[in-house]
Amino acid sequence: MSSAFRIEVMHGVNLDMLGRREPEHYGTLTLEELERQIEGFAAEIALKTRFFQTNFEGEYVERLHSLRDLADGVILNPGAWSHYSWAIHDALATAALPAAEVHLSDVKAREPWRQLSVIEDLCVTSVAGQGIEGYRLALARLHEELKDRGT
Ligand code: DQA
Repeated sequence: MSSAFRIEVMHGVNLDMLGRREPEHYGTLTLEELERQIEGFAAEIALKTRFFQTNFEGEYVERLHSLRDLADGVILNPGAWSHYSWAIHDALATAALPAAEVHLSDVKAREPWRQLSVIEDLCVTSVAGQGIEGYRLALARLHEELKDRGT
């Protein structure tokens, strides 16, 4: 009998500034408040969450390295790293877990440099511009993926 799927939710650079940072793009919730909401969304579909945030790219990479035995799936919002960190791309490929990308803001409708995501090709879904609801969608998609894989 398998226990609840474990989802690692990984926030990257500057996401610790939520609540104080450009509310027109990112809303008014703090990261802690956002994480509590995500935890609630996950509980509704019997997923277990664990949270991580860092402003240091190497720490983000190392967390991805450690995930294999600790999580069944991963949600990533790497912040600006999403647009250029091939190191995070490679670490996510190494983790080899079902992954979902989330951006609070509508990155495709903003500056040209935000329109590339270097992790999109490794993710089963990429959700942007839906605010916190994007995490609910990502959790649901990962849940489907994990059930289909019979993990
Ligand atoms: C973000 C979008 C990124 O372009 C930006 O650098 C962030 C937040 C988002 O959630 O909308 O830091 O990932």
